Order: sequence, then C-alpha cells, then structure tokens
Amino acid sequence: MKVLAINGSPKMDEGNTARILNPFLDGMRDAGADVELFHTRKLKIGPCNGDMSCWFRNPGRCGQKDDMQMLYPKFEDADVIVWATPVYFSGVTGPLKNLMDRQLPLHVPGTVAKKRQKVVLVSSCGAWEMAAFDPIIAQMKAIYSRPDAEFVAALLRPGAEAMRFMPEGAMDDVIQAARDAGRELVRTGRISESLLKAVSRPLMSEEEYMRLGEKAIEEARKGA
Ligand SMILES: Cc1cc2nc3c(=O)[nH]c(=O)nc-3n(C[C@H](O)[C@H](O)[C@H](O)COP(=O)(O)O)c2cc1C
Repeated sequence: MKVLAINGSPKMDEGNTARILNPFLDGMRDAGADVELFHTRKLKIGPCNGDMSCWFRNPGRCGQKDDMQMLYPKFEDADVIVWATPVYFSGVTGPLKNLMDRQLPLHVPGTVAKKRQKVVLVSSCGAWEMAAFDPIIAQMKAIYSRPDAEFVAALLRPGAEAMRFMPEGAMDDVIQAARDAGRELVRTGRISESLLKAVSRPLMSEEEYMRLGEKAIEEARKGA
C-alpha cells in the first residue's frame, strides 16, 4: 500500500500537527505500508495560475515546472493520501492550499482514476472547540465526494498548544492512539471512533488551557 502524506505546517516535524501525524505514519509503516512524507515548506510549488491549460490546452499537464511535476505521479499512484495541516484562519495553510489547487491536471473530466484512493486529514488547532475543524472537514468532504475517492477519517488535535506544557509521558496515550490508527487504517481500511476520540481527548481543563494562554501572552508583553 502506497501512502502519500503532505504536511502543510511551516513548523514541519517540530510542530503540533507533526506530533499526531508522525506516529500515525509510523503506525502505517508498522503495518507494512510504503509511506512518503513531504513538507510544503521544503517544496517549491507556485500557486495555480488559473489558465486552465491543464484541461483545455494540454489535458492532464501543468505548464509550471516546479516540484508539482515530481508529485503528480505520486498522487496518481497513492492508495492513501494524508493531508496534514494546522488550522490557519479556519482553513488549511496557504502553501498547502496552493498544492491542493495544483492537482487540477489530475482531475480532467473523463479521466479514469487508477485506483479508488482513501483520504485522511490530520489537523491541529489552537482553539479548544472541535468546531474549529468544521470548515476544513467540510472542504475535505466536498473535494472527496467523487466516486474515485473516499474521505475516511480525520485525526484532530484541538487545544494543541497545550501539548508543549504536558509533562513527559502525559500524552503517551494520545500518541499511541495515533499510531494504532495508522495500523488500523492499513489493516482494515477504517479508523475506529474510539481511536479518533482518544487522539482528540482534552489534555487539561478548558479553564487551565485559557489561563496558560493568557499567562504566556502576559509574559511576552512584559518581555517585549
Ligand atoms: C497564522 C495562524 C492562524 C491561525 N488560525 C487559527 C484558527 O483559525 N483557529 C485555531 O483554532 N487556531 C489557529 N491557529 C493556531 C494553530 O492552528 C495551532 O497553533 C496549530 O496547532 C499549529 O500547528 P503546527 O505547530 O503544526 O504548525 C493559527 C495559527 C497561526 C500561526
């Protein structure tokens, strides 16, 4: 099984999103999947120029010579696509949206997909509420309403800034759940609700989280 994962966080492996994404991908590797991970920050990918030449001049081809050319065959061959992103102003990060838009040559009407792909979203956000992910989930569901793809699940980490305050080992269960979710996806094609819930579980009380945030801003103001 081939897995193509794209992480749109500028913080790459040091970010909150990666704290869930990386064990999830490790779980897939454990179960035998061939996983490739790319960080948008390391890729040279321009925005779509909107001329639709990939449909009406050279169907299936993008004229821009950048890292998308290397990614196109990987998108075509993948059995599973993992989109990873922090929530930025209620959406995916800008570089990730550029990359998503540049998939247009793969979606020329009349093209028959090589395989029915499964899609997973991994996302983290600063907000406490799970509702902060709703716009991105709605976008995923809209994109993958096509018959040749299936939006399988979303691994969501709300209140993600709490992670840096967690004592060593205090969220091992969350990391383990992400890893188990990867294994389960490869073995069964599904991710169970209990694992998704474990990934999103509150890390502290909402009051404590708000207090930590206020304190951090107060200290930064004092230091500035
Ligand atoms: C430019 C910017 C916009 C953000 N917008 C939101 C937002 O709309 N909702 C939210 O809950 N968090 C928002 N956040 C917080 C991030 O989603 C959160 O810190 C996330 O865990 C960062 O992930 P990363 O460390 O992988 O980059 C924003 C952060 C930045 C830098």
